[in-house]
Amino acid sequence: MAQFHPLTVTDIQKTTRDAVVVTLRPENGADFTFTQGQYLTFKRDFGGEELRRSYSVCSGANDGTLQVGVKRVSGGVFSTWANTELDVGDTLDAMMPMGGFFAADTAQTPNILAFAAGSGITPILSILRTAMDDPTVRATLIYSNRNPNTVMFREELEDLKNQHMGRLNIVHLLSDGSQEIDLFRGRIDAAKCDALFENWIDIKSVTTSYICGPEQMMQTVAQTLEGHGLPKDRIRFELFASAQMGRAKLPAIDMSAPEDGVEGQLTVGGETWSFVIPQNTSLLDAALENNMDAPYACKAGVCSTCKAKVLEGDVEMIANHALEDYEVDAGYVLTCQCFPVTSQRVVWDYDQSEH
Ligand code: FES
Repeated sequence: MAQFHPLTVTDIQKTTRDAVVVTLRPENGADFTFTQGQYLTFKRDFGGEELRRSYSVCSGANDGTLQVGVKRVSGGVFSTWANTELDVGDTLDAMMPMGGFFAADTAQTPNILAFAAGSGITPILSILRTAMDDPTVRATLIYSNRNPNTVMFREELEDLKNQHMGRLNIVHLLSDGSQEIDLFRGRIDAAKCDALFENWIDIKSVTTSYICGPEQMMQTVAQTLEGHGLPKDRIRFELFASAQMGRAKLPAIDMSAPEDGVEGQLTVGGETWSFVIPQNTSLLDAALENNMDAPYACKAGVCSTCKAKVLEGDVEMIANHALEDYEVDAGYVLTCQCFPVTSQRVVWDYDQSEH
């Protein structure tokens, strides 16, 4: 399940001063077929500590190439290494593509409205590249950055727009004041969304909206879209990868699991194991402490790599930036954020998670 496969780096291009596009070739015949908007989880050893990080695919599903975008984040060990030391010919280990940031039925989404902030453009680019292959699709992208130099994939977006002239509209919002038109100056906030929806975008014609960026921005855009009449089930969002902290938080609430822990049983890779989940320990950490091959990447409730279905027992999920309401209703959890709140057995299954 949490199997990693070697990929050879065949090309690296700088897209801004702080971001690279890495082209990868799977080795040993591994099938890395992906759906637009998905991501890859990489692992690498840094000074004896294994780090896992997820980066979104930026290529389109029909492009015949596998590319990820890696933006260097301040203090980010993996992203700094990828931007400064990673070389063509190097091997990266990655899990199969994962993530559900796409609409299942593209025929139902002929009019797309996408919002991206900073490196949140990466999965959005994959979605747009794929969607525009269908000549009936029209799309508008609102892309927010500090200034023109921090715009990731600037040329690629320009190319995509020129290739699909009249069907793809791109609005660059810049917060440094360098845009001449008032409407395109500043950040994506509620007032800006209202202004855009009143003067520029007809929300009634939108069939699906994709949002990727910081949490606050996503919530604001989603609320404003709903306020302007777009149904909630047509709004898809994904927190961007640089929000990953790489560490699990301890539960802030009083967990009522007993001091000596509760019985846990998990299924992963077709095998079922039982062990004790110690108090104040997440389902994922309990699995890892018992040397189970449970999948994970961010350990921060962002990437959904650790998604599983709880089949028995009560758990509390203390953070969720990745699962949709219907998934939670169906019993799915992020095991890195889940703690038992029961003295009864907790049973969960990674094999039912359909990443
Ligand atoms: S490991 Fe990323 S959400 Fe749990």
